[in-house]
Amino acid sequence: MSEGLDLNLGDIDGLEQVIDREALAEVCRSFFDLFGISIRVFSRTGALLSDVHEEQAVCRYVNTLSEGRRACGTTVTEVKHIGATDGVVVHPCFTGANYRVVPIEYHSRHVGRFVIGPYLPAERTEIPKTLLTVDPNIDADKAIAALGDMPRVREETALRIAHHLRNIVDLILFSSHRAHLTSEMHVASVRESYRELAEKNDALQSAYNRLKELDQLKSNFLATVSHELRTPLTSIIGYSEMLTSGIAGDLNEEQNEFVQTIHDKGDHLLSLIASLLDASKLEQGQLTLNRVPLDAGQLIRSVVTTIIPNAKKKGIAVESQVEEGVPTVIGDSIRIHQILQNLADNALKFTTKGGTIILGARATEMMDDDGGGFGAVLMAASKPAVEFRIEDTGMGIAQDQVERIFDAFYQVDGSSTREHGGAGLGLSIVKRLIEAHGGSIRIESSVGVGTTFFVTIPEAPDTFDL
Ligand SMILES: Nc1ncnc2c1ncn2[C@@H]1O[C@H](COP(=O)(O)OP(=O)(O)OP(=O)(O)O)[C@@H](O)[C@H]1O
Ligand SMILES: [Mg+2]
Repeated sequence: MSEGLDLNLGDIDGLEQVIDREALAEVCRSFFDLFGISIRVFSRTGALLSDVHEEQAVCRYVNTLSEGRRACGTTVTEVKHIGATDGVVVHPCFTGANYRVVPIEYHSRHVGRFVIGPYLPAERTEIPKTLLTVDPNIDADKAIAALGDMPRVREETALRIAHHLRNIVDLILFSSHRAHLTSEMHVASVRESYRELAEKNDALQSAYNRLKELDQLKSNFLATVSHELRTPLTSIIGYSEMLTSGIAGDLNEEQNEFVQTIHDKGDHLLSLIASLLDASKLEQGQLTLNRVPLDAGQLIRSVVTTIIPNAKKKGIAVESQVEEGVPTVIGDSIRIHQILQNLADNALKFTTKGGTIILGARATEMMDDDGGGFGAVLMAASKPAVEFRIEDTGMGIAQDQVERIFDAFYQVDGSSTREHGGAGLGLSIVKRLIEAHGGSIRIESSVGVGTTFFVTIPEAPDTFDL
């Protein structure tokens, strides 16, 4: 609710604030049609709100005489100045006619008044002297004839007319005020909803800013920590390599095995750190691609070669299916290789003995998405692209997880007792790298049957500059 709105009507000072003027004018007009008596309605401050009148012949006549005009002016001024506290006042005119002034109240508050008249009280039988002496030049016969045209009602009838009119004005006032209140309440509630919304919006905005700040801090932290970890780690790997190569003297079998483990774990840690660095670089848009023409078949073959030893160890078959005439793609050799290697590593990790992994490449087309909105999509031309396929017969991914696996650090089995290693960064990096190449990634998976990732990379990016 808006402050200070008094439902009981405290906000109303005068009729003009709430009354339906058209309804008021119509009522005055019908009273005039019925009784032929002029009606004027004034607000509390004296503003004329409705005026239905006809100039009387006698008024017209006396106004042609200078003293008559002055007397008429005086009467009008007196009627106008009848106050609210005076109650109903019957004010006589020198012509013998009367004005009836009736206050309008609403909820015990004076809000205006109406004036009925002039009318000639039917009780009056003589021509008043005040008319005949108002001006030295008055023509008595003319004045009397003109007075004959004045509407005549008995005072009692005038009282009843005033009473009815007042009842109707009350009704109009009541319904107008109700409509006024309803709209006030509506405005107040809209204002309140808007205020609430604005408050929530502010809270949301500051929460969002805070989160963005935290996200930035996290990225900086990742970048710094990874960078700082990499330097000592390369020393650990280097020294363990030196030890195994015998530079510091021969090692017995057990020592050799221990040092080899240090070396392997160091390598693993290094690739994890590389992933963290990639992720933060991608997040901050700091990754630059070194684009060159690449042979898709060659890429597939090289990934197959790297996974075959581990696949053999796990008893998994690896096939490559590269179609004839697959076009060359323009991309960053290390990054495209990284994309395929990551997906192939996942396939290997989540497939058990006896399974098969297929790595394929074929020519395809993709929509030329220039970001021009819906119209542009309809008109979009397709452009040549290469589709890489990494298929496995592994454990599969449930439908409700498919969207989430591309989130950084997300793993379907996030428990501490999880069987497979990894940080959950692989796919988020893969997705961003593909997007950086103007490509897209799609997944088809079925639990217990297997998973296929389709990676589409355009033959040449939109803004390619060799
Ligand atoms: N081929 C697949 N089959 C079944 N589940 C998969 C497959 N590829 C990914 N997933 C699921 O998606 C999750 C996220 O994969 P992602 O490569 O991002 O992380 P990760 O392999 O667990 O760790 P990282 O790649 O950082 O070493 C995996 O933990 C796994 O639950
Ligand atoms: Mg992975």
